[in-house]
Amino acid sequence: MTSYLENAIEIAHDAGSLLRQYFERRVTFELKGAFDLVTVADRASEKLVVDRLTALYPEHGILAEEGSGHESASEYRWYVDPLDGTTNFAHGYPIYNVTLALEKAGEMILGVIFDPNRDELFSCEKGAGAYLNGRRIAVSRAARIAECLVATGFPSRRRHQDINVHFFYQVAMASHGVRRGGSAAIDLASVACGRLDGYWEFGLSPWDMAAGRLLVEEAGGRCTDMRGGPHSLTGPHILADNGVVHQEIVNLFEAIFRGVPPQLMPLVQPD
Ligand code: IPD
Ligand code: CA
Ligand code: CA
Repeated sequence: MTSYLENAIEIAHDAGSLLRQYFERRVTFELKGAFDLVTVADRASEKLVVDRLTALYPEHGILAEEGSGHESASEYRWYVDPLDGTTNFAHGYPIYNVTLALEKAGEMILGVIFDPNRDELFSCEKGAGAYLNGRRIAVSRAARIAECLVATGFPSRRRHQDINVHFFYQVAMASHGVRRGGSAAIDLASVACGRLDGYWEFGLSPWDMAAGRLLVEEAGGRCTDMRGGPHSLTGPHILADNGVVHQEIVNLFEAIFRGVPPQLMPLVQPD
């Protein structure tokens, strides 16, 4: 394990403990957008993570959701979601996490997702496998959508225009079920450890996916866009699955895309 990963794990543990303290005393929320929540816990966690990363690696860039990161000329860049699952958190619904990832010269080299509620620490480094609390994890072996449990999410941004309800309905009819846990990083971690067979979502941000995507790949799964093309952290959508059911899901999605009214199609492009 590199010292980068050791430090990322320690910081995620500390930020997660802080989140848990706020969670137990319950916090109110403010609105960043019409339905986009933020709390004092998001900001406190981000301050802890950004301060610690900056002290350790002053030359590295940091992209953090609440805006306290900084650009840099370094080939290293951290992605930080200080509280993923804010809506859950603000309502006292215990599914949330802190997640960070490190990119070097455009390639993600490590990722960490810490769920303080379940005391689960997911970690990975490029080429070295994926782990849950230090034990190696792998994706599921489900071979058909009909035997899959999958998840999705609905971003708060532009939600009145979201076409995902079409996908939700069709996949729910074709599978064991679709879950909507409210935390993209935990959804991805759940694919990585085989609790879910697949996950997709429109309109995520890079910090939601940076660690989870590498985790799924290191656990033997596959991440693409929803048409089976290369996934981009700034792309319009993500599909993560165990690799075995990948083509069947892409085929199903293609059929659903064909049924989406043409006037809604621009909405699946990034802003
Ligand atoms: C959100 C969660 C949610 C997903 C949203 C994300 P946040 O992140 O991951 O599951 O559906 O798209 O924005 O705002 O709680 O960090
Ligand atoms: Ca998030
Ligand atoms: Ca967040």
